[in-house]
Formats: sequence, C-alpha cells, structure tokens
Amino acid sequence: MAIKKIGVLGTGQMGAGICQVAAAAGYDVVMSDINLEIAEKGKAGIAKRLDKAVSKGKMDEAAKDAILGRLTPVESMAAFKDVDLAVEAATEAMELKLKLFKAMDDACPEGAILATNTSSISITYIAAVTKRPEKVIGMHFMNPVPVMKLVEIIKGLATDDETYAATIEASEKMGKTSVTANDAPGFIVNRLLIPMLNEAVFAYQEGLGTPEDIDEAMKLGLNHPMGPLALADLIGLDTVLAIAEVLHKGLGDGKYRPCPLLRKYVDAGWLGRKTGRGFYQY
Ligand code: CAA
Repeated sequence: MAIKKIGVLGTGQMGAGICQVAAAAGYDVVMSDINLEIAEKGKAGIAKRLDKAVSKGKMDEAAKDAILGRLTPVESMAAFKDVDLAVEAATEAMELKLKLFKAMDDACPEGAILATNTSSISITYIAAVTKRPEKVIGMHFMNPVPVMKLVEIIKGLATDDETYAATIEASEKMGKTSVTANDAPGFIVNRLLIPMLNEAVFAYQEGLGTPEDIDEAMKLGLNHPMGPLALADLIGLDTVLAIAEVLHKGLGDGKYRPCPLLRKYVDAGWLGRKTGRGFYQY
C-alpha cells in the first residue's frame, strides 16, 4: 500500500519530531493533540528548529517553507478521516494509549495503518482494543527524532505482512534505518537502555559519584555522546520511570525495580529538561 498522508497524534517532544521528519520526507501531515492551540505550538517548535537549520546554512528557505506547508495542525482526530497511516505519540501511560487507540480506530479510514511510538507497552495488547489488530504496529522513534537514525519496528501477534512492509518503507522514506524487535517489554533499545539509566540513578543515590562525575565517566570512558543522567533528563524522568515499571512488571524480575530516587524526583515534578529540573537544572 502507498502511504501519502500521515496523522500524528501527540505533538510534544516525540510527536513533533515525527511530524518534522515525515513532512521533510514529502508526506502530508495532520498534527493532532488535546486541542488546536497545542498542535499549533508543536508546529511553531518545528518552525523554530528549521529556522536554526536555515541560519546554519543546512537548509534553504524554500525547503523550510515546503516542509511547513505540509504540516497542518488540526482541532481533533476527525481530520484523520483520510490518512493512510496514523502514528500515536502520546504520554507513555497504558490507559491513555488504550483510550486513544479506540478513538484513532474510529477516526481513521478502513485499511489505514495505526502505529504507536510506545517505548515499551505491548503492541499486541494495544492492537486488541481496535477492530483492526492486523493493521496495528509499533514504530518506535528515538529522541531527538530528527537526529537519531533508528526506528524500532514491532509486530504485534496479529500484525500482517503488508502493514509491516509498508511501515518499514515509510521509516526508510523518513531517512531512518529500522530494526525489528520482538513484542516483549521494552523491545530492544529500552530493554538495554533503561536498566543502565536506572542503575546510574542507584549509583548517584548511593553516593558513588556526583551526576557530573557519573556522566563524565560514561562519556569519556565509553564514548557515549551524553551521560546516563543527562540522557534521562532529556528523555523525561516520568517516561524513564514508566518504562522501568513496564520492564519490572512485564518481566517479573526484581533486577528491573525502579530506583526510589527516580520515583522521588518524579513525585517532586522534577522531570528533567521539560520542567527545567531533573538531575541537572536547565
Ligand atoms: N531536535 C532536533 N535537532 C536537535 C535536537 C533536537 N532536540 N538536539 C540537537 N539537535 C541537532 C542539532 O541541531 C545539531 O544539528 P546539526 O549538526 O545539523 O547542526 C545536532 O543535533 C548536534 O547537536 P549539538 O551540536 O547541539 O549537540 P551534540 O553534538 O551534543 O548532540 C545529541 C546532541 C544529538 C542529543 C547527542 O548528545 C546524542 O546523540 N545524545 C544521545 C541521544 C540518545 O541516546 N537518544 C536516545 C534516547 S532513548 C529514546 O529515545 C528511546 C526511548 O524510548 C526512551
């Protein structure tokens, strides 16, 4: 099936990034969030990033205008009535995702693919609340989406081969390389990443080092582009905690228990960059 028009549900950090790479690949993109104002804010953030690329000489004005011209913020998912692919990129919370998938299933035309950018929740479980489980798939982008090369593709139990092939083709058109992961808690990236970030919080909690020393050790000692605590702040500590809980519950092994200090930061509303404070102040 040929994908021409994409609906993105959720225009925050991840959703806006997905909108940007989809529009840059030539897709018409409708951007939906809680209301039009929030969706417009998502588009304004993209415009700001593209302005930066123009001022650095990495893009010309015409290319920027073409990308922005393909992005349409909308009031509601009613505008998904003629999309070929819908990508959900809302907050990482199970109940919310199930509710949104039911609504997306009702809003999208028959035959459209419903993808989720979930970082850890079962695709099979999400698919089961729709009337088209064979058209539901995981399409997990990395943060920051315009920079990171990877998309993890996750087939649910019922996902058909046509959906899988079309999703890989769309990811490649967006300039990404895909890997296929099994539908198991955390898939590949977060199964490995989240225990490392969580362990860094334990290390800090136990006084092994300051956040700066822990991050510097991993950057200079392992050539990681950023340290684990800075990365946790970038992802959002609420999201890190949510994924850690999915791993802990889904795999049933105590080694995945979220660090109490991570929970405490989330309770305090210290969610990282997006709230101005996490392990660092911004
Ligand atoms: N959006 C768009 N572009 C961004 C960006 C953002 N939020 N942040 C940085 N960039 C771009 C910059 O504009 C710059 O582009 P140019 O080279 O074209 O000028 C480029 O990225 C490099 O940026 P900087 O020079 O400012 O900074 P840097 O070299 O330190 O790189 C980084 C920043 C790309 C974030 C780098 O530190 C990095 O790769 N960090 C690791 C990121 C990572 O691990 N992401 C995965 C998170 S896990 C995940 O997403 C999965 C999950 O489910 C939790």
